[in-house]
Amino acid sequence: MTRPRLSAVAVVGAVVGFAGLMHVVRRRKLARHPDFFRAKVVLITGASSGIGRALAIALAERGAYLVLAARRMERLTRVADECRFISPDSEVLVVQTDVSEQAQLEALVGQALDRFGHIDILINNAGIMTGGHYEAYNIAALREQIEVNLLAAMILTRLVLPHMLRRRAGHIVNVSSVQGRYALPFSVPYGVSKYGLIGLGDGLRRELKGSGVTVTTLCPGATASEMVAPAVEGFRRMPAQLFEPAEIAEMSLKAIRQGRAELYGDWMLLPVVWISAIFPGALDWAYKLSWPDEFVEMQRKRSVMPEEEGV
Ligand SMILES: NC(=O)c1ccc[n+]([C@@H]2O[C@H](COP(=O)([O-])OP(=O)(O)OC[C@H]3O[C@@H](n4cnc5c(N)ncnc54)[C@H](OP(=O)(O)O)[C@@H]3O)[C@@H](O)[C@H]2O)c1
Repeated sequence: MTRPRLSAVAVVGAVVGFAGLMHVVRRRKLARHPDFFRAKVVLITGASSGIGRALAIALAERGAYLVLAARRMERLTRVADECRFISPDSEVLVVQTDVSEQAQLEALVGQALDRFGHIDILINNAGIMTGGHYEAYNIAALREQIEVNLLAAMILTRLVLPHMLRRRAGHIVNVSSVQGRYALPFSVPYGVSKYGLIGLGDGLRRELKGSGVTVTTLCPGATASEMVAPAVEGFRRMPAQLFEPAEIAEMSLKAIRQGRAELYGDWMLLPVVWISAIFPGALDWAYKLSWPDEFVEMQRKRSVMPEEEGV
């Protein structure tokens, strides 16, 4: 009877020991590379607002060279001006890009390479969040959700990777979400796109072992950006955290420096993610504890009825 108890203690001890060891290794990596981002060329999609903008500013503070992409040129130019003000030595290239257009992605990579000769870090951050009852989804909206959040990241990675492999150096960063491990109701296509990004990161990381190219998947928790603006007050009431984009940017840069496989902004959501992975269906109700009614309602109301909009 004592045997199972002993082995359970040994397993817990091994897990805690391994986590402790990883922590020490990560801290040492951070201490070794204080100037990690200086003069690194970083391409960020979706840099005109929210997490993308915060990443651009945090990278400018560290002396990185930036390629900023998004559709809203006025917003993008403003972010570029902020970066140049913070770091007059940093070079910033702004490229108006709709990431759902392959030709514009090709032009973006072409302009970045013309200007800087290489790309050290690609951050696939651009994203939209559609919502609604799945049965009422407009098919065009389904396509757009996948094209912007997932296909664009796949194509950009495909365009940039040969250059990184030739130099045997580079880092691909995909901004997924906790919804990439625990999909929510009334946001199903968004969840699908974020699950896809996790698959992209996991597969590529294994394929690229030993190539010099690193892959990191970021899963921010709820972040006070335009994307969730109508539900921000609701998030503040929940036990899970609501982050500022700047906090997510700081955590993300740390994870990139450490070469981490995956980062969760909000560790409180990890038990939900892990338990659901082992026992799918066991925690189908748990989203009510962490995502406010306002958010679920915001997403539900986005429903586009096919008879109004055309399927
Ligand atoms: N906020 C959260 O709670 C949260 C949580 C987990 C993950 N995320 C993820 O974090 C990423 C950034 O989102 P955010 O929260 O910072 O929201 P946000 O402020 O709405 O930023 C979204 C960015 O994506 C860009 N974008 C959207 N469609 C685009 C297109 N077709 N072509 C080029 N750029 C496009 C937008 O720029 P333009 O409109 O100017 O093109 C904007 O810069 C997204 O991938 C999102 O899914 C957010």
